[in-house]
Amino acid sequence: MTQPLRIGVLGSGSGSNCEAIMDACARGAVPAQVVVVLSDIADAFILERARRRGIPSAFIGQSRFKTKLELELEAHLVALLREARVELVALAGYMRVVKQPLLEAFAGRIVNIHPSLLPSFPGLKSWEQALNYGAKVAGVTVHFVNEGVDTGPIILQEAAPILPGDTAESLHQRIHAVEHKLYPEAIRLIAEERLRIVGRRVDVVR
Ligand code: GAR
Repeated sequence: MTQPLRIGVLGSGSGSNCEAIMDACARGAVPAQVVVVLSDIADAFILERARRRGIPSAFIGQSRFKTKLELELEAHLVALLREARVELVALAGYMRVVKQPLLEAFAGRIVNIHPSLLPSFPGLKSWEQALNYGAKVAGVTVHFVNEGVDTGPIILQEAAPILPGDTAESLHQRIHAVEHKLYPEAIRLIAEERLRIVGRRVDVVR
């Protein structure tokens, strides 16, 4: 038997995606385990979700910036991930742009979930962007992380309809439901070593 893939989750908010990943691992649907949960926000609920399951978690420290981390802080983050012997970093509602120290340390081993069908609506509150744009279809993307913002090779995507009368909240809820299924599924493919990256394209093999 191979060992479960060791995942480190980074998040800034509620952590419902982290919960979906931890659930899928716990019920054996994904051959992986979340070994550490880290947050850039001291009181983020994602940390509480980890604590409730007895999974090590930590606030990585106060940053002066909003959209990135100081180099030292990101180096500290890398040290914590290494200490936990993390093999895959999963960004789950992590609202900072990942910089070189982390990208270098986990090259090709960082994934993100984004609440739109990329390349449409990158950036913040993508469901709201889609709604305000008048799009009829929204969705979810799981992708590898590169040096750009929401630009890495796409692993899985799934659409979610935008319905008449939708508010930002109702649409985000529908998107969340898709996310909670799609993220564990993408991680399962990685844990089973079933992905091959060819340029920008990610093929599922076997
Ligand atoms: C999710 O919808 C995720 O896709 C989004 O933040 C939410 C976090 O929810 N991420 C981004 O917008 C990243 N640019 P969660 O904390 O309940 O998982």
